[in-house]
Amino acid sequence: RTEVVTLPVVVHVVHHSKIPEQNISDQQIHSQLAVLNRDFRAANPDTSKVPEAWKSLVADARVEFRLADRDPFGKPTDGIIRVETDERSFGTDDAVKAGATGGADPWPGDQYLNIWVCQLRGGLLGYAQFPGGPPQTDGVVVLHSAFGTTGTAAHPFDGGRTATHEIGHWLDLFHIWGDDDGACSNGDRVADTPNQADGNTGTPVFPHISCDNGPNGDMFMNYMDYVDDSAMFMFTRGQSERMNACLEGARASFLV
Ligand code: ARG
Ligand code: ZN
Ligand code: CA
Repeated sequence: RTEVVTLPVVVHVVHHSKIPEQNISDQQIHSQLAVLNRDFRAANPDTSKVPEAWKSLVADARVEFRLADRDPFGKPTDGIIRVETDERSFGTDDAVKAGATGGADPWPGDQYLNIWVCQLRGGLLGYAQFPGGPPQTDGVVVLHSAFGTTGTAAHPFDGGRTATHEIGHWLDLFHIWGDDDGACSNGDRVADTPNQADGNTGTPVFPHISCDNGPNGDMFMNYMDYVDDSAMFMFTRGQSERMNACLEGARASFLV
């Protein structure tokens, strides 16, 4: 496949009636869609900051995102659902993904990318479900203040990159360091990302070497690391292939 896939998105804004900032604006949501449509096409201007050694690996994943214009019953929609809740915040237990637990039910996960935006506890920026999981919890969850680039979006996570990272997981990408706690034993099952010990944070300076991966070191500017939004700006060709394999496989319902 060489053509671009467009994924219909529904954003569920789950907000507490007494905490108005949780009810983010349409504009903030649109600002997030704009970031996704740059990052997954390698059209983000900050690819210019990719170190020379890796410029040839920068990949256009050929995925675009559009807020749904039809709901599951075929009725016109703006792709934004707003639900008031009694919950002041949510954890990783998927409560936000069901009306019965104070959240919002998903739209069919084989036709829509469900994104829940809410207050998350414990410093969590977001979390995602990998392909192949239960349909009733499929999608990604993002903290409202790490969503989009305007409104409640707060530095250093006001670049819209939390959603880019979470959708990477939703399309089957692992963390670039392989989640092996510094052991250097486990990779991300992508050949063109260097093996690296652990997640990086903040705004690292190139090169940062670990796991004998010199001279270039960790590819910390990858969306699947843990750095600040302003410090992450690329997927690799290998990651793009892995995401597209997911779109030909577990998530092939989006291709028809
Ligand atoms: N903590 C989240 C996760 O593991 C996402 C981190 C996103 N990083 C960022 N700079 N926005 O899925
Ligand atoms: Zn992650
Ligand atoms: Ca790798």
